Amino acid sequence: MSTIGILAALHDEIATLLTAMGSGAVTHRIGQRDYHVGEISGQNCVVVLARIGKVAASATAVTLIREFNASCVIFTGLAGAVAEHVRIGDVVVAQSLLQHDLDARPLFPRYEVPLLGRSYFDADVQLAALLGACAKDYLQEDLPAQVSCEIRTVFGVISPVVHCGTIISGDSFVSSTSGMEALRTCLPDALCVEMEGAAVAQVCFEYGVPCGVVRTVSDRADCSAGIDFNAFLTQVASFYSAGILRRFLMSYSG
Ligand code: ADE
Repeated sequence: MSTIGILAALHDEIATLLTAMGSGAVTHRIGQRDYHVGEISGQNCVVVLARIGKVAASATAVTLIREFNASCVIFTGLAGAVAEHVRIGDVVVAQSLLQHDLDARPLFPRYEVPLLGRSYFDADVQLAALLGACAKDYLQEDLPAQVSCEIRTVFGVISPVVHCGTIISGDSFVSSTSGMEALRTCLPDALCVEMEGAAVAQVCFEYGVPCGVVRTVSDRADCSAGIDFNAFLTQVASFYSAGILRRFLMSYSG
């Protein structure tokens, strides 16, 4: 059976998955990461906390592929909204990913990964379709039961939806309206911004391993992003990640 590599940037996102693995899980410590190997919903999985940022996520993705022979890699986490129509509580499933802070001009065009000759890395089409369907079902069927109406109202999560498209990544937490608007202007196709996905997608491209990235929108990447992010992380995020991945693992057929 194939092995699904599951990466998350934050502990709250994988805690429920680790519980689902139960006592049969075996933990391997490599490069200061704990790789938890076990079964969830009948699927062989390796679950690992990648930590934050492109280097941390890339190093972890390489280990998943080289040491654990992951046949696909799924990254779950939070993101700040960039596109105007993307709201807190929505889910974004990547179709393609780009590193917004990569700039080797004048040697190479802005955003292009030197010597790879490309700026965008595609998520696997089938993984993206399945993650999108699972996220949609999660929002409709599970979220209302898992997160109280009061908490959803506090965060303005009224009718959350799933978006599919471009996710941008960079080694900075975007927390100013001017920073967010600069991204929106330079990269008008960007739906949301985070700090790892495009780096993992590049690693997966280089190793020929299918990759999927699913992000829950925790903030608007503006001056209240830090407050919104932390509150969302502790009160809502873990439900989204675990709920979407639970559905994904139940439906995935390799
Ligand atoms: N992840 C969640 N929110 C983010 C933001 N505003 N900037 C970068 N990464 C994020």
